[in-house]
Parts: sequence; C-alpha cells; structure tokens
Amino acid sequence: MKYATPEGGHPDDILSVVAQILEDLEASAREHLGVCVPSVVTHGMTRSAANISPDWIDFAAEETFSTSLNHTTHFINDADAAGFAEARLGAARGIAGMTILTTLGTGIGSALLVDGELIPHSELGHLELDGTDVEHRMSNAAREREGLSFAVWGERLTSFYAHLEKIFSPELFVIGGGISAQHAEFFPYVRISTPLVPAHFLNNAGIVGAALLAAEHLATAARA
Ligand code: BGC
Repeated sequence: MKYATPEGGHPDDILSVVAQILEDLEASAREHLGVCVPSVVTHGMTRSAANISPDWIDFAAEETFSTSLNHTTHFINDADAAGFAEARLGAARGIAGMTILTTLGTGIGSALLVDGELIPHSELGHLELDGTDVEHRMSNAAREREGLSFAVWGERLTSFYAHLEKIFSPELFVIGGGISAQHAEFFPYVRISTPLVPAHFLNNAGIVGAALLAAEHLATAARA
C-alpha cells in the first residue's frame, strides 16, 4: 500500500499521513517507527532541504513526531537508510572495505559503508563537479528534465563515479533510487573499473533500512 506525499511535503502534512498509516496498520503505541527523509539528520533533527520544504531545516523531527504520534520515532537520511539495509541484508552484505551506495532519484543521495558499518551524512550528490552540484546534472530528475538518452546520462554518471573511485577507492558501488529497477538500460554506459550493482531492495531500500533501524532501537530499549 502506498500513500501519496502531500503537496509541498510540509512536516505537519507528512505527520498527518504517518498518523493515518499507523491507524491503518492498527499499530500499538509500543511499536517504534522508522522514517527516512531526503535530509541530513543529526541528533533527531532534520538539517537540510535540497529538494523538500525548507520547513525541515533544523526541525526537531524525532521529538515532534514521537510526541504527536505517541510512538517513539527514529529519523534517518533516505540514502543512509538504504545503505544500512543493503549492508545488513542486501547487495553490500559481507563486503570488506568500502562500499558506496548512491540513490539516483529527484536528488542524488549517498551512503558510505565500511566493513558493513554505515558512516552517515556523506551527501555526495552535493559534490561540486564542473562548477555545479552533481545532482543538478546527474540525478534521474535531470535525465528526465533534459530528455537525456541512457547513453548520454551514462557518460555523465561515469564522470561522477570515476571521481568517487579516485577519492575513495571503493570495492563496490550499489545503486538505488527509482531508476535502479532499470539498471540494465544504463549500467553498460557507466564505464568505471569498480563493480556496479543494483540495490537488492531497489527503490525500497530506504524504507527497509528505516524499519530495520527502528527495530534495532526497539531491541536495544527492551534490553535496557
Ligand atoms: C539530499 C540528500 C538525499 C538525496 C536523495 C539530496 O538532495 O541532500 O539528503 O539523501 O537528495 O534523496
């Protein structure tokens, strides 16, 4: 079941949708909630808003949602959540060394994974290449906006991933986001030497990661 993102994506409207989801799931207040957002998240606060309502900047997301919903709520950046899920259960499981997950969607999100551990807040979509944020020229939204063929888009992506190769020497790139289901159409045009694989959970990796994280917090709280 999918719930549409309310127009404008303001925190209050998202809160109402989440309340509706909890009601539909008949969740008991004991259960923890995991939410992934396209924003930097530190200390339960959402800190940035590249492609969402500016109301999320420096917003006390965990406190507000936990209080209003009467459910302990854990927020995590969407790409970090995807990385967490892929490291635990997906394409990056058991990989020694560095894996870089990127999500290609409206923006470009990233997660750095070292020996399966998430190093959060990386924001590689905002790396500046050729005078602009890579996500402005290389996200899936940019491909659609500019009507790029997969071959031309793949060339652009090559410059991004080749740059990341030079800086991080990763063992593996994992690609998530909406377009990852169509990986066979553009992977051949991304010419790099590091292996490139689609996320096991494709565009759902973030959702799985947020849920896993909430479950881990719940388990930790139960042990305390
Ligand atoms: C945001 C990231 C997010 C990514 C993917 C970027 O614009 O800055 O926080 O992970 O989009 O949604």
